[in-house]
Amino acid sequence: MRSFTLVLLLCLGYGHLTTSYKPFMQVWSKLIVTHHWPQTFCSVEHCDTHFDYWTLHGLWPDKGGTCNTSWHFNASQIEDLMPEMKKWWPDLLHPDPSNSTVFWKHEWQKHGTCAVQSEALDSEHKYFSKALELYHKLDLDGVLRKSNIVPSEKFYNFDDIEEAIYGFYNVKPKIQCIPPKLGENVQTLGQIEICFSKDFHLINCQKSELDNRNQPNDILTYGSTGYMVCQENKEVYYPPLIGKY
Ligand SMILES: *[C@@H]1O[C@H](CO)[C@@H](O)[C@H](O)[C@H]1NC(C)=O
Ligand SMILES: *[C@@H]1O[C@H](CO)[C@@H](O)[C@H](O)[C@H]1NC(C)=O
Ligand SMILES: *[C@@H]1O[C@H](CO)[C@@H](O)[C@H](O)[C@H]1NC(C)=O
Repeated sequence: MRSFTLVLLLCLGYGHLTTSYKPFMQVWSKLIVTHHWPQTFCSVEHCDTHFDYWTLHGLWPDKGGTCNTSWHFNASQIEDLMPEMKKWWPDLLHPDPSNSTVFWKHEWQKHGTCAVQSEALDSEHKYFSKALELYHKLDLDGVLRKSNIVPSEKFYNFDDIEEAIYGFYNVKPKIQCIPPKLGENVQTLGQIEICFSKDFHLINCQKSELDNRNQPNDILTYGSTGYMVCQENKEVYYPPLIGKY
């Protein structure tokens, strides 16, 4: 009887928590700037690409998703950013028509509406321009190049890539790969995440066991690319651009 009461109390308590707990109010503490390598993305998604630099995939709060479905994406609010967006944050899946905003709409609905919790990001324009600002500040292409990590037919040690990034920013990135095909030993570099605190200081992207799962992130709705955290003991292929023009 006593344990029944306890269970009942726990249930009530939990019920109370769950009813007052609104998923869209999930408080996040970290922002993830996600870059993807267009050639890898397109080799999986069968798209053609001409981008030979790391493009922006998104600016993601570490918690929450699709936080406010009534805050609709409105392309005219970021009209002035369009040239930048097309260049650095292109929709690799739908390169035509070049005026398509599907990708940005998706990023806004899923991540932007959660990012707005922060005053610095509480409008569409603030969100997209901050993402571009952080992306430029990071200059991932330049950082890798400085360490002679460039697209190549030869393979890299995973450690060298991680070290190049860590050595420059002094924070741990999260580096994702397409895992080796069965019977092969080489993984393909796909996505690099660099993390910021809420006040835009570089911080470590936590590398926990949980992170080793195939994270849903944007994968389910934006392409089906199966990125996994790269395996440290396996070589890495950083594919040069082969995409048709
Ligand atoms: C959701 O977005 C709408 C439209 O911008 C806004 O009026 C509303 O306050 C937002 N809701 C929350 C909980 O932020
Ligand atoms: C989109 O933004 C523009 C520019 O701020 C504004 O004039 C327009 O009314 C907005 N459209 C919608 C549907 O909210
Ligand atoms: C893209 O541009 C074409 C030609 O200018 C236009 O007909 C079309 O409606 C535009 N599409 C979008 C999504 O804006």
